[in-house]
Amino acid sequence: MRFVSITPNERPEIKSGRANNQVDYAAIEQEALSRIEGAGDPEALEGLRVEFLGKQGSISGLLKTLGKMTPEERQQTGPKIHGLREMVTGALASRKTALEAAALELRLASETIDLSLPAPDVPTGSVHPVSQVMDELAEIFADLGFAVASGPEIEDDWHNFTALNMPESHPARAMHDTFYFPDDAPNGGRMLLRTHTSPVQVRTMLAQGAPLRIIAPGRVYRSDSDATHTPMFHQVEGLVIDRDIHLGHLKWTLETFLKAFFEREDIVLRLRPSYFPFTEPSVEVDVGFAVEKGRRVLGGSGDDPGHAWMEMLGSGMVNRRVLEMSGLDPDEWQGFAFGVGVDRLAMLKYGMDDLRPFFDGDLRWLRHYGFSSFDQPTLSGGVGARA
Ligand code: PHE
Repeated sequence: MRFVSITPNERPEIKSGRANNQVDYAAIEQEALSRIEGAGDPEALEGLRVEFLGKQGSISGLLKTLGKMTPEERQQTGPKIHGLREMVTGALASRKTALEAAALELRLASETIDLSLPAPDVPTGSVHPVSQVMDELAEIFADLGFAVASGPEIEDDWHNFTALNMPESHPARAMHDTFYFPDDAPNGGRMLLRTHTSPVQVRTMLAQGAPLRIIAPGRVYRSDSDATHTPMFHQVEGLVIDRDIHLGHLKWTLETFLKAFFEREDIVLRLRPSYFPFTEPSVEVDVGFAVEKGRRVLGGSGDDPGHAWMEMLGSGMVNRRVLEMSGLDPDEWQGFAFGVGVDRLAMLKYGMDDLRPFFDGDLRWLRHYGFSSFDQPTLSGGVGARA
Protein backbone atom coordinates (compact mmCIF):
# COMPACT_ATOMS: atom_id res chain seq x y z
CA MET A 1 0.00 0.00 0.00
CA ARG A 2 1.31 3.38 -0.92
CA PHE A 3 0.66 5.96 1.70
CA VAL A 4 -0.05 8.47 -0.98
CA SER A 5 -3.26 6.69 -1.83
CA ILE A 6 -4.83 7.14 1.58
CA THR A 7 -7.34 9.89 1.28
CA PRO A 8 -10.63 10.04 3.13
CA ASN A 9 -12.66 10.03 -0.05
CA GLU A 10 -11.12 6.92 -1.49
CA ARG A 11 -11.06 4.95 1.70
CA PRO A 12 -14.59 4.38 2.95
CA GLU A 13 -13.39 2.59 6.06
CA ILE A 14 -11.44 5.72 7.09
CA LYS A 15 -14.26 8.00 6.12
CA SER A 16 -16.69 6.09 8.23
CA GLY A 17 -14.33 6.25 11.15
CA ARG A 18 -15.17 2.66 11.87
CA ALA A 19 -12.09 0.98 10.61
CA ASN A 20 -9.50 3.24 12.19
CA ASN A 21 -8.12 0.53 14.30
CA GLN A 22 -7.21 -1.24 11.16
CA VAL A 23 -5.14 1.65 9.92
CA ASP A 24 -1.48 0.86 10.37
CA TYR A 25 -0.18 4.23 11.57
CA ALA A 26 3.31 2.91 12.12
CA ALA A 27 3.52 1.72 8.52
CA ILE A 28 2.18 5.04 7.25
CA GLU A 29 4.76 6.88 9.30
CA GLN A 30 7.58 4.70 8.11
CA GLU A 31 6.66 5.14 4.50
CA ALA A 32 6.24 8.90 4.88
CA LEU A 33 9.58 9.29 6.61
CA SER A 34 11.41 7.22 4.06
CA ARG A 35 9.87 9.15 1.18
CA ILE A 36 10.80 12.46 2.86
CA GLU A 37 14.32 11.20 3.39
CA GLY A 38 14.42 10.25 -0.28
CA ALA A 39 13.29 13.68 -1.58
CA GLY A 40 16.13 14.88 -3.76
CA ASP A 41 15.32 18.55 -4.07
CA PRO A 42 13.18 21.29 -2.48
CA GLU A 43 10.45 20.94 -5.11
CA ALA A 44 10.01 17.22 -4.45
CA LEU A 45 9.96 17.94 -0.73
CA GLU A 46 7.30 20.61 -1.16
CA GLY A 47 5.26 18.10 -3.19
CA LEU A 48 5.39 15.68 -0.26
CA ARG A 49 4.39 18.41 2.21
CA VAL A 50 1.29 19.14 0.17
CA GLU A 51 0.57 15.45 -0.26
CA PHE A 52 0.71 14.76 3.50
CA LEU A 53 -0.21 17.98 5.24
CA GLY A 54 -1.94 20.10 2.60
CA LYS A 55 -5.66 20.84 2.83
CA GLN A 56 -6.42 17.71 0.84
CA GLY A 57 -3.44 15.88 2.27
CA SER A 58 -3.56 12.34 3.53
CA ILE A 59 -2.64 13.14 7.14
CA SER A 60 -5.06 16.04 7.13
CA GLY A 61 -7.62 13.48 6.00
CA LEU A 62 -6.79 11.20 8.89
CA LEU A 63 -7.19 14.12 11.31
CA LYS A 64 -10.66 14.72 9.95
CA THR A 65 -11.67 11.16 10.81
CA LEU A 66 -11.27 11.98 14.50
CA GLY A 67 -14.48 13.97 14.42
CA LYS A 68 -16.49 10.90 13.53
CA MET A 69 -15.09 8.61 16.15
CA THR A 70 -16.56 7.66 19.45
CA PRO A 71 -14.84 9.31 22.40
CA GLU A 72 -13.07 6.06 23.29
CA GLU A 73 -11.81 5.60 19.74
CA ARG A 74 -10.71 9.20 19.66
CA GLN A 75 -8.85 8.84 22.89
CA GLN A 76 -7.00 5.89 21.55
CA THR A 77 -6.43 7.02 17.97
CA GLY A 78 -6.01 10.81 18.44
CA PRO A 79 -2.50 10.68 19.86
CA LYS A 80 -1.42 8.34 17.09
CA ILE A 81 -2.60 10.66 14.31
CA HIS A 82 -1.25 13.79 16.02
CA GLY A 83 2.03 12.02 16.65
CA LEU A 84 2.15 11.03 13.00
CA ARG A 85 1.60 14.62 11.95
CA GLU A 86 4.31 15.87 14.26
CA MET A 87 6.80 13.30 13.04
CA VAL A 88 6.11 14.14 9.41
CA THR A 89 6.27 17.90 10.07
CA GLY A 90 9.60 17.50 11.83
CA ALA A 91 11.00 15.25 9.12
CA LEU A 92 9.97 17.71 6.40
CA ALA A 93 11.73 20.55 8.24
CA SER A 94 14.96 18.71 8.85
CA ARG A 95 15.06 17.37 5.29
CA LYS A 96 14.58 20.93 4.07
CA THR A 97 17.53 22.14 6.14
CA ALA A 98 19.65 19.27 4.89
CA LEU A 99 18.77 19.97 1.25
CA GLU A 100 19.60 23.68 1.64
CA ALA A 101 22.92 22.90 3.25
CA ALA A 102 23.74 20.45 0.48
CA ALA A 103 22.84 23.02 -2.18
CA LEU A 104 25.09 25.58 -0.53
CA GLU A 105 27.91 23.05 -0.33
CA LEU A 106 27.50 22.34 -3.99
CA ARG A 107 27.57 26.04 -4.92
CA LEU A 108 30.62 26.70 -2.79
CA ALA A 109 32.40 23.79 -4.39
CA SER A 110 31.53 24.77 -7.95
CA GLU A 111 31.79 28.56 -7.76
CA THR A 112 35.11 30.23 -7.47
CA ILE A 113 35.90 33.92 -7.35
CA ASP A 114 38.56 35.14 -9.74
CA LEU A 115 40.32 37.80 -7.72
CA SER A 116 42.49 38.73 -10.67
CA LEU A 117 39.50 40.05 -12.65
CA PRO A 118 39.42 43.87 -12.79
CA ALA A 119 36.66 45.26 -10.57
CA PRO A 120 33.79 46.95 -12.41
CA ASP A 121 34.15 50.71 -12.65
CA VAL A 122 32.24 52.39 -9.84
CA PRO A 123 30.84 55.65 -11.14
CA THR A 124 32.21 58.55 -9.14
CA GLY A 125 31.89 62.30 -9.43
CA SER A 126 34.79 64.43 -10.52
CA VAL A 127 36.39 67.59 -9.23
CA HIS A 128 35.32 70.71 -11.13
CA PRO A 129 38.24 72.55 -12.75
CA VAL A 130 37.46 75.64 -10.67
CA SER A 131 37.63 73.65 -7.43
CA GLN A 132 40.78 71.99 -8.66
CA VAL A 133 42.43 75.35 -9.38
CA MET A 134 41.33 76.76 -6.01
CA ASP A 135 42.94 73.77 -4.30
CA GLU A 136 46.11 74.31 -6.31
CA LEU A 137 46.16 78.00 -5.35
CA ALA A 138 45.69 77.20 -1.69
CA GLU A 139 48.52 74.69 -1.88
CA ILE A 140 50.96 77.02 -3.64
CA PHE A 141 50.24 79.93 -1.33
CA ALA A 142 50.34 77.75 1.76
CA ASP A 143 53.95 77.00 0.84
CA LEU A 144 54.55 80.78 0.83
CA GLY A 145 52.99 81.15 4.28
CA PHE A 146 49.54 82.37 3.22
CA ALA A 147 46.35 81.39 5.04
CA VAL A 148 42.98 81.10 3.29
CA ALA A 149 40.40 83.74 4.30
CA SER A 150 36.78 84.13 3.29
CA GLY A 151 33.96 86.65 3.43
CA PRO A 152 30.27 86.88 2.56
CA GLU A 153 29.03 86.85 -1.02
CA ILE A 154 26.11 89.06 0.00
CA GLU A 155 28.14 92.07 0.97
CA ASP A 156 27.37 95.60 2.08
CA ASP A 157 28.19 98.69 0.12
CA TRP A 158 30.77 99.85 2.68
CA HIS A 159 32.99 96.74 2.52
CA ASN A 160 32.64 96.28 -1.24
CA PHE A 161 33.25 99.91 -2.20
CA THR A 162 33.60 102.63 0.43
CA ALA A 163 36.30 100.98 2.55
CA LEU A 164 38.18 100.23 -0.66
CA ASN A 165 38.40 103.94 -1.37
CA MET A 166 35.38 104.05 -3.65
CA PRO A 167 32.99 106.44 -1.89
CA GLU A 168 29.43 107.05 -3.22
CA SER A 169 29.62 108.60 -6.68
CA HIS A 170 33.18 107.36 -7.26
CA PRO A 171 33.40 106.78 -11.04
CA ALA A 172 35.09 103.37 -10.56
CA ARG A 173 31.85 102.05 -9.05
CA ALA A 174 30.19 102.34 -12.43
CA MET A 175 32.67 99.84 -13.88
CA HIS A 176 31.53 97.10 -11.51
CA ASP A 177 28.07 96.32 -13.04
CA THR A 178 26.78 95.64 -9.58
CA PHE A 179 23.79 93.49 -8.62
CA TYR A 180 22.14 95.50 -5.83
CA PHE A 181 19.48 94.16 -3.51
CA PRO A 182 16.21 96.08 -3.71
CA ASP A 183 15.93 96.93 -0.03
CA ASP A 184 18.10 99.35 1.84
CA ALA A 185 20.08 97.71 4.62
CA PRO A 186 19.24 98.82 8.17
CA ASN A 187 22.49 100.78 8.50
CA GLY A 188 21.63 102.84 5.45
CA GLY A 189 24.16 101.06 3.23
CA ARG A 190 22.86 99.05 0.32
CA MET A 191 23.39 95.29 0.17
CA LEU A 192 24.82 93.79 -3.00
CA LEU A 193 26.42 90.69 -4.44
CA ARG A 194 30.13 91.33 -4.00
CA THR A 195 31.70 92.41 -7.27
CA HIS A 196 35.20 91.30 -6.28
CA THR A 197 37.01 89.48 -3.48
CA SER A 198 38.70 92.70 -2.28
CA PRO A 199 36.18 93.28 0.57
CA VAL A 200 37.76 90.22 2.21
CA GLN A 201 40.96 92.31 2.56
CA VAL A 202 39.10 94.87 4.64
CA ARG A 203 37.26 92.29 6.70
CA THR A 204 40.45 90.35 7.46
CA MET A 205 42.45 93.46 8.42
CA LEU A 206 39.62 94.61 10.69
CA ALA A 207 39.28 91.18 12.28
CA GLN A 208 42.93 90.15 12.55
CA GLY A 209 45.06 93.29 12.36
CA ALA A 210 48.61 93.10 11.03
CA PRO A 211 50.83 91.42 9.95
CA LEU A 212 48.83 89.32 7.48
CA ARG A 213 49.35 86.94 4.60
CA ILE A 214 46.12 85.67 3.11
CA ILE A 215 44.49 84.56 -0.07
CA ALA A 216 40.71 84.79 -0.44
CA PRO A 217 39.28 82.62 -3.22
CA GLY A 218 35.57 82.79 -3.92
CA ARG A 219 32.57 83.69 -6.06
CA VAL A 220 31.97 87.21 -7.31
CA TYR A 221 29.11 88.66 -9.34
CA ARG A 222 28.75 91.21 -12.11
CA SER A 223 25.94 91.91 -14.51
CA ASP A 224 27.81 90.84 -17.61
CA SER A 225 27.49 87.88 -19.98
CA ASP A 226 29.37 86.74 -23.08
CA ALA A 227 31.99 84.09 -24.02
CA THR A 228 34.49 85.50 -21.54
CA HIS A 229 32.11 86.92 -18.92
CA THR A 230 29.50 85.17 -16.80
CA PRO A 231 27.34 86.91 -14.16
CA MET A 232 29.03 84.74 -11.54
CA PHE A 233 32.71 83.97 -11.68
CA HIS A 234 35.62 83.30 -9.34
CA GLN A 235 38.47 85.43 -8.12
CA VAL A 236 41.31 84.92 -5.75
CA GLU A 237 42.48 87.87 -3.74
CA GLY A 238 45.95 88.03 -2.26
CA LEU A 239 46.98 90.33 0.58
CA VAL A 240 50.25 90.77 2.44
CA ILE A 241 50.52 93.34 5.23
CA ASP A 242 53.76 93.79 7.11
CA ARG A 243 56.46 96.35 7.80
CA ASP A 244 58.63 97.49 4.89
CA ILE A 245 56.69 95.68 2.17
CA HIS A 246 57.34 97.02 -1.32
CA LEU A 247 56.61 96.33 -4.99
CA GLY A 248 59.58 93.96 -5.19
CA HIS A 249 57.82 91.60 -2.79
CA LEU A 250 54.72 91.76 -4.95
CA LYS A 251 56.64 90.96 -8.10
CA TRP A 252 58.54 88.05 -6.54
CA THR A 253 55.35 86.61 -5.04
CA LEU A 254 53.41 86.77 -8.30
CA GLU A 255 56.30 85.36 -10.29
CA THR A 256 56.76 82.48 -7.85
CA PHE A 257 53.04 81.78 -7.84
CA LEU A 258 52.63 81.84 -11.64
CA LYS A 259 55.69 79.63 -12.19
CA ALA A 260 54.36 77.08 -9.71
CA PHE A 261 50.82 77.24 -11.04
CA PHE A 262 51.69 76.89 -14.73
CA GLU A 263 54.54 74.54 -13.88
CA ARG A 264 56.98 76.46 -16.09
CA GLU A 265 60.21 78.17 -15.18
CA ASP A 266 60.16 80.47 -18.22
CA ILE A 267 57.16 82.57 -17.13
CA VAL A 268 58.01 86.22 -17.70
CA LEU A 269 56.04 89.08 -16.13
CA ARG A 270 55.62 92.65 -17.21
CA LEU A 271 54.35 95.19 -14.69
CA ARG A 272 52.42 98.05 -16.25
CA PRO A 273 51.21 101.15 -14.40
CA SER A 274 47.49 101.04 -13.90
CA TYR A 275 44.78 102.38 -11.66
CA PHE A 276 42.66 100.85 -8.91
CA PRO A 277 41.13 103.03 -6.21
CA PHE A 278 42.31 100.63 -3.49
CA THR A 279 45.97 100.37 -4.51
CA GLU A 280 48.60 103.05 -4.98
CA PRO A 281 50.63 102.62 -7.01
CA SER A 282 48.64 100.09 -9.04
CA VAL A 283 50.13 97.69 -11.52
CA GLU A 284 48.60 95.51 -14.17
CA VAL A 285 50.56 92.30 -14.57
CA ASP A 286 51.04 90.89 -18.07
CA VAL A 287 52.46 87.45 -18.90
CA GLY A 288 54.33 86.52 -22.07
CA PHE A 289 52.79 83.77 -24.20
CA ALA A 290 52.89 82.17 -27.64
CA VAL A 291 50.17 80.42 -29.63
CA GLU A 292 50.87 76.72 -30.12
CA LYS A 293 48.37 74.53 -32.00
CA GLY A 294 45.75 77.21 -31.64
CA ARG A 295 46.24 77.35 -27.87
CA ARG A 296 47.76 80.12 -25.80
CA VAL A 297 50.76 78.72 -24.01
CA LEU A 298 52.40 80.82 -21.33
CA GLY A 299 56.16 81.21 -21.32
CA GLY A 300 58.82 83.56 -22.63
CA SER A 301 58.79 87.32 -22.82
CA GLY A 302 56.00 89.00 -24.73
CA ASP A 303 58.76 90.86 -26.58
CA ASP A 304 60.28 87.59 -27.91
CA PRO A 305 59.67 86.75 -31.57
CA GLY A 306 56.33 84.96 -31.99
CA HIS A 307 55.26 86.05 -28.51
CA ALA A 308 52.88 88.64 -27.09
CA TRP A 309 51.77 89.94 -23.70
CA MET A 310 48.55 88.88 -22.07
CA GLU A 311 46.88 90.80 -19.30
CA MET A 312 46.81 88.51 -16.29
CA LEU A 313 45.86 90.30 -13.10
CA GLY A 314 45.48 93.57 -11.21
CA SER A 315 47.58 94.46 -8.20
CA GLY A 316 49.36 97.18 -6.32
CA MET A 317 50.41 98.53 -2.95
CA VAL A 318 47.43 98.80 -0.62
CA ASN A 319 46.21 102.40 -0.59
CA ARG A 320 46.86 104.24 2.71
CA ARG A 321 43.22 105.17 2.91
CA VAL A 322 42.22 101.48 2.74
CA LEU A 323 44.66 100.68 5.54
CA GLU A 324 43.21 103.50 7.62
CA MET A 325 39.62 102.44 7.05
CA SER A 326 40.69 98.90 7.96
CA GLY A 327 42.03 100.08 11.30
CA LEU A 328 45.77 100.03 10.51
CA ASP A 329 48.29 102.86 10.82
CA PRO A 330 49.69 103.34 7.29
CA ASP A 331 52.91 104.79 8.66
CA GLU A 332 53.58 101.53 10.42
CA TRP A 333 52.12 98.97 8.00
CA GLN A 334 52.33 98.58 4.26
CA GLY A 335 51.25 95.84 1.99
CA PHE A 336 50.43 94.66 -1.46
CA ALA A 337 47.29 93.14 -2.88
CA PHE A 338 46.35 91.38 -6.08
CA GLY A 339 43.23 89.94 -7.62
CA VAL A 340 43.00 87.34 -10.39
CA GLY A 341 40.22 85.43 -12.10
CA VAL A 342 40.26 81.76 -11.06
CA ASP A 343 38.22 80.66 -14.08
CA ARG A 344 40.65 82.46 -16.33
CA LEU A 345 43.57 80.67 -14.69
CA ALA A 346 41.78 77.34 -15.23
CA MET A 347 41.07 78.15 -18.90
CA LEU A 348 44.69 79.05 -19.55
CA LYS A 349 46.13 76.06 -17.75
CA TYR A 350 43.76 73.41 -19.08
CA GLY A 351 43.05 74.82 -22.54
CA MET A 352 39.37 75.76 -22.46
CA ASP A 353 38.28 78.60 -24.69
CA ASP A 354 34.78 79.41 -23.47
CA LEU A 355 33.90 80.41 -19.92
CA ARG A 356 30.20 79.65 -20.09
CA PRO A 357 30.36 75.83 -19.96
CA PHE A 358 32.09 76.16 -16.58
CA PHE A 359 28.69 76.90 -15.09
CA ASP A 360 26.30 75.01 -17.40
CA GLY A 361 26.52 71.75 -15.45
CA ASP A 362 26.78 69.72 -18.67
CA LEU A 363 27.92 66.26 -17.58
CA ARG A 364 29.85 65.64 -20.81
CA TRP A 365 31.92 68.78 -20.25
CA LEU A 366 32.40 67.92 -16.59
CA ARG A 367 33.53 64.38 -17.41
CA HIS A 368 35.90 65.68 -20.03
CA TYR A 369 37.50 68.41 -17.95
CA GLY A 370 36.82 67.13 -14.44
CA PHE A 371 39.54 65.80 -12.21
CA SER A 372 39.60 62.57 -10.33
CA SER A 373 39.57 63.23 -6.62
CA PHE A 374 42.25 60.58 -6.33
CA ASP A 375 44.93 62.26 -8.41
CA GLN A 376 44.72 65.85 -7.23
CA PRO A 377 46.19 68.26 -6.38
CA THR A 378 49.44 67.61 -7.95
CA LEU A 379 51.60 70.69 -7.96
CA SER A 380 54.52 68.61 -6.98
CA GLY A 381 53.66 65.77 -9.32
CA GLY A 382 52.09 67.47 -12.35
CA VAL A 383 48.37 67.87 -12.86
CA GLY A 384 46.63 65.63 -15.33
CA ALA A 385 43.28 66.69 -16.72
CA ARG A 386 41.34 63.68 -17.96
CA ALA A 387 41.05 65.44 -21.31
N1 PHE B 1 39.51 93.75 -7.11
C1 PHE B 1 40.07 94.04 -8.40
C2 PHE B 1 39.08 93.65 -9.48
O1 PHE B 1 38.20 92.88 -9.23
C3 PHE B 1 41.37 93.32 -8.62
C4 PHE B 1 42.43 93.81 -7.69
C5 PHE B 1 42.59 93.25 -6.45
C6 PHE B 1 43.29 94.82 -8.07
C7 PHE B 1 43.58 93.69 -5.59
C8 PHE B 1 44.26 95.28 -7.23
C9 PHE B 1 44.41 94.71 -5.99
O2 PHE B 1 39.15 94.12 -10.58
